[in-house]
Amino acid sequence: MKRVLSGIQPSGSLTLGNYIGAIQNFVKLQHTHQCYFMVVDLHAITVPQEPKALREQTESVAALFVAAGIDPEKANVFLQSHVPAHAELGWIMTTLTHMGELERMTQFKDKSSGKESVGAGLFVYPSLMAADILLYNADLVPVGDDQKQHLELTRDLAQRFNQRFGEYFTIPEPYIPEVGARIMSLDDASNKMSKSNPNPGSYIALLDPPDVIRKKISRATTDSGREIKYDVKAKPEVSNLLSIYSQCAKLSIANIEAKYEGQGYGQFKKDLAEHVIATLEPIQQRYREIRSSGKIIDILDKGAQRASEAADETLRNVKERMGFLLRG
Ligand code: AMP
Ligand code: TRP
Repeated sequence: MKRVLSGIQPSGSLTLGNYIGAIQNFVKLQHTHQCYFMVVDLHAITVPQEPKALREQTESVAALFVAAGIDPEKANVFLQSHVPAHAELGWIMTTLTHMGELERMTQFKDKSSGKESVGAGLFVYPSLMAADILLYNADLVPVGDDQKQHLELTRDLAQRFNQRFGEYFTIPEPYIPEVGARIMSLDDASNKMSKSNPNPGSYIALLDPPDVIRKKISRATTDSGREIKYDVKAKPEVSNLLSIYSQCAKLSIANIEAKYEGQGYGQFKKDLAEHVIATLEPIQQRYREIRSSGKIIDILDKGAQRASEAADETLRNVKERMGFLLRG
């Protein structure tokens, strides 16, 4: 069976962008692949985190994975910090990475621009991500569009290792959805929807109550026209809302355009809010059940155990190939 790995940072409340761009595909792939889905807490600390908030967010993201439909019996759900091999292979990958490669990463450029002081962890973050993926010899990595460049680096590092130390790593492929790989901010369609945006009106959190969702969508920026048409260049805001509509209502964009022909934005936005609510309500219900049951700790424990078995074997093989003297 082919292997899948992906991760999400516990650095804030997950958004509809995370769901449409990534988690939705995690749920789909678990039926056909051997899956590893983790909460990447070691990545989250590349920017300062408040300890109490980090702990709460980590448990919350893990519970959301399960609430969104990931079955912990089918897929391994675990925390990155519970499998020490991530940090260890992360270091090894850092030593194979060139400074220039990291300097070219657009996420690093975005996150560090204008900052007086930038943590070294933020710089080497893509090497750790490569280790995450290669530890499980993943064939496929479901991510949103913004992770494409990190995945290309992962492929380069895997090839570099294979050339230097003999064929070992699988070269992973990105799995990026055609619609919804880049859900944009509700207040500015030139930025991606992000949980780290200081304006909560710019994103829909997976745990937003229905009234908040209605309000955020009714206030979402549109243009001064009336036409509901998908045209990313001319109508970026409306196109973004159409992508969200299409993903939540499971209708094609052409279908939605036809449905609203000759109508203004008002009804379209009202209906869109109801489709988003209908998508999120069952997830929120399951989330509350999982959090109050306390089961998540046990799920993470089992997930980490199974993940460690695979990861430790890879790490041992890597070290052997590189010339580390192994323990007897
Ligand atoms: P992060 O929240 O940065 O840890 O991202 C977790 C996953 O969600 C990654 O695969 C991202 O590519 C994806 N993702 C995050 N924001 C968006 C967005 N606005 N649209 C689509 N995918 C997204
Ligand atoms: N860098 C990813 C993000 O910010 C999160 C991540 C860490 C990841 N390790 C990964 C995604 C491995 C896919 C595979 O969204």
